[in-house]
Amino acid sequence: MAPRPYIQPVVDSTAVFKADLFNGKVLFCTGGGSGICKAMTESVMRHGANAVILGRKIDRLTAAAEELSAKTGRKCLPIQADVRKPEQLKDAVAKTIEKFGRIDFVICGAAGNFLAPIQGISENAFRTVIEIDTLGTYHTIKATLPYVRQSKGSYIHVSATLHYRGTPYQVHVSAAKAAVDATSAVLAVEEGPHGVRSNVIAPGPIAGTEGMDRLGPKGPTSISSEFYRAMPVGRMGDVKDIANTTVFLFSDAASFITGQIIVVDGGNEHLRVPG
Ligand code: HXC
Repeated sequence: MAPRPYIQPVVDSTAVFKADLFNGKVLFCTGGGSGICKAMTESVMRHGANAVILGRKIDRLTAAAEELSAKTGRKCLPIQADVRKPEQLKDAVAKTIEKFGRIDFVICGAAGNFLAPIQGISENAFRTVIEIDTLGTYHTIKATLPYVRQSKGSYIHVSATLHYRGTPYQVHVSAAKAAVDATSAVLAVEEGPHGVRSNVIAPGPIAGTEGMDRLGPKGPTSISSEFYRAMPVGRMGDVKDIANTTVFLFSDAASFITGQIIVVDGGNEHLRVPG
């Protein structure tokens, strides 16, 4: 394939948005210990917010929290919690309020994924992903909403694009993410009158993430690197692309945007090769 004449650059949100944009704000992020959600948390902290990150693996969370604080100069509290357990989320919210006194932004990002065909996936495996992605999102909303209402804050749900069409071996994730999209829309219309916004970010292929490792070129489907060079913007996504969208959506510049799904995929979803 011929070299691309132009490739869209990856930028830092601080090159575009004010450094003190989120001073005094508090972020509550499930799945914030790694990957896309960690980068989303970093960007919000870089603009002045303190953060709480939740996950099942406390060692990974603690290391991530230390790294995020060192990079941004803001406070980051790691809390071990399983989003499938509503009481653990309520407890995490109580700890957040005790430490920071408020919750302005929520990222519902905890997710499970693996490749499995409909015929082969076990009932428990299907249920596990629904419980993490869909019920985990619902439990997170339930636990945080009283405080997000108080701050007239905002939700971002991390979804996907694979359920827009039939993606093989992804029935569990497709069902789970479709439900997440629907949940966000209902949250947006019910809570809009209370000053709360809710949007979805649907990442396309993002380099270096656990999801890509499991599903992308290194994974069992062996999608070729030619596929990514053929993407309209000429490159794979970077976690910063998702982080930058996060900063915009949480900012007041997005105050009229709610109930939306923002696809961040370099145009990939619209690409159709003739023939
Ligand atoms: C088939 C599997 C499986 C696999 C687990 N199961 N992994 N089945 N193939 N690779 C089955 C188990 O056999 C079991 O069913 C059931 O799922 C529960 O598994 P457990 O290991 O007991 O559960 P748990 O410890 O809770 O962890 C499950 C999991 C984890 C969270 C789903 O396996 C996992 O996949 N973690 C990865 C997280 C991840 O990749 N996050 C990024 C998501 S990216 P049985 O019947 O045996 O009891 C994303 C975006 C996608 O979502 C878009 C990308 C382009």
